[in-house]
Amino acid sequence: MKRTQHCGELRAAHVGQKAILMGWVHARRDLGGIVFIELRDREGNTQVVFDPQHNKPSWELAQSLRSEFVVAVEGFVRKRPEGTQNLKLPTGEVELLVDHLEILNPSETPPFQLDETGSAQANEELRLQYRYLDLRRPSMTKNLKLRHRVAKAARDYFDTNGFLEVETPILFKSTPEGAREYLVPSRVNPGKFYALPQSPQQFKQMLMVAGVDRYFQIAKCFRDEDLRADRQPEFTQIDVELSFITREDMYALMEGLLATVWLAARGEKIPTPFPRMQFLEAMERFGSDKPDTRFGLELVDFTKEFAQSKFKVFRGAVDSGGVVKAINAKGLASVTQGQIETLTETAKSFGAKGLAFIKVEGGEWKSPIVKFFNDEEKKALTEKLKIEEGDLILFGADKRETVWEVLGRLRLIIAEILKKEGKLKVPEDQWNFLWVIDFPLITYNPESKRHVATHHPFTSPVVEDVPLLDREPTKVRGQHYDIVLNGVELGGGSIRIHQPELQKKIFEQVLQIPPEVAQSRFGYMLQAFRYGAPPHGGIALGFDRLCAILCGTPNIRDVIAFPKTAKAVDLMTNSPSEVEPKQLRDLHIKLDVEDAG
Ligand code: AMO
Ligand code: AMP
Repeated sequence: MKRTQHCGELRAAHVGQKAILMGWVHARRDLGGIVFIELRDREGNTQVVFDPQHNKPSWELAQSLRSEFVVAVEGFVRKRPEGTQNLKLPTGEVELLVDHLEILNPSETPPFQLDETGSAQANEELRLQYRYLDLRRPSMTKNLKLRHRVAKAARDYFDTNGFLEVETPILFKSTPEGAREYLVPSRVNPGKFYALPQSPQQFKQMLMVAGVDRYFQIAKCFRDEDLRADRQPEFTQIDVELSFITREDMYALMEGLLATVWLAARGEKIPTPFPRMQFLEAMERFGSDKPDTRFGLELVDFTKEFAQSKFKVFRGAVDSGGVVKAINAKGLASVTQGQIETLTETAKSFGAKGLAFIKVEGGEWKSPIVKFFNDEEKKALTEKLKIEEGDLILFGADKRETVWEVLGRLRLIIAEILKKEGKLKVPEDQWNFLWVIDFPLITYNPESKRHVATHHPFTSPVVEDVPLLDREPTKVRGQHYDIVLNGVELGGGSIRIHQPELQKKIFEQVLQIPPEVAQSRFGYMLQAFRYGAPPHGGIALGFDRLCAILCGTPNIRDVIAFPKTAKAVDLMTNSPSEVEPKQLRDLHIKLDVEDAG
């Protein structure tokens, strides 16, 4: 038998024709001696009918069919009787009356139901262990298809715009500057290691020196980080680099890409150009460098108003150079003591010393700290926070960065609570793209007590800020840009340094990387820059995050065929796993693990 159509293809126009379908038994029903099968493949479902009056042998064989058996059926297409049509299904007007059934392969009973409800209930570990079954579910198939379409649209877009797709190595060199790396021991170079690339960053810059001019790659990246819903140890970037461009060129190019992708994947037009926001404004208003601007709940500053406060926490924060900020959780005065305690614990986990609050209930401000406020302070709060009956006001008083972090996190948690209570509407299909720009080039890391590159050490400073590099490095703005969508950091990039002296200065003087270390890690780059490196810049979009947003799932595992768990384990193949002693000997490796089990 040779397949004539797939299971999503038959329509009223095919009525009377012969057809041969192949696929999986999605569901089976016995109705008054007639057997109905919903036959499924990647493209859809078709109702298949076995009628003993029509063909007895196939009807008899159909008795043995169970979920997920693989079958081939030959028959003719007929209109479903009036009243039994399913207009929700593209094939719902017709059915296939079977003349011949062949069981191509039986199936054991799947460990979870493959319809959407059954699988949603199955825990994710089980789904990952049987990923080949999970991926048969229509919603997962849909995600894989969308991912393919996005990649195709992106490739076509870059091709049209004169880009070359160039592959860069997976066996790279250890450059322990960014995230923790995956190391690969070398057999033929005893004691030496490759590292898997965190991104093709250095290679794409070398391609610019090589004159490639416009490069892109749908590139695999590897980072040994703590994993979350939006982070995987191996993930994919749409990686881009161009020569002879400015930040403005970059914005236009990526806006064009995203508009193309949205049209291809969702048939939607998105408005361009995207708005831009400075890093400082994003932090001051939203407490985040990736603000979700679909809703308010903004941070409001009261540092001036509380400079003379009788409340020692506020006064103390201002006196030591910090800030006082507040958010109005509109309509949340109904919080329980338990919820306040949870919010306070959350605030503390992000570095707050406490969480002062006011509940506005029964025309009264209920809070242990209100007694410290004078009329002027109360008036300022009322006006700037637009306080009304039923509101809950939350305060942060601390170092500026701490207040940003704490209130920024609380803002998102409060939005979730308000959404659940129906007090806040955040439209899921509204696309608030935003460029966040003017990041500080360099940030002081109090833990390691040194300056670190905010993005990476190859980002160029804003030209007029270069003189500040020696005196006040943290005041220097970088030519860095992030693209944010609905509170998700979709991508980031920068105009790069292409002058060897400036690059050397950033490594050695600003980031305090000892010259010999800088030389051994990045020497080739400094050398390359001495051979006519063009001015260049680029960006990388998180391809998995992009697809997750387009698919409407918060979890990037849903758009990756074979993802890893939060513990970086592939449950299907059971990887990572132990290896043979001989393999280790070949690699010149001795293990020192207490409990390898
Ligand atoms: P960056 O480190 O900001 O920049 O990464 C770019 C984008 O990649 C995505 N991303 C991830 N997605 C899933 N899992 C992860 N573990 C993960 N880590 C990052 C994010 C992020 O915005 N070479 C530079 C880009 C450049 O300067 O051109 C880079 O890699 O969406
Ligand atoms: P205290 O005077 O320490 O009892 O604190 C009074 C209130 O202020 C409590 O609700 C604390 O949680 C809160 N609080 C303490 N420190 C801070 C801070 N740095 N920022 C905001 N609220 C705080």
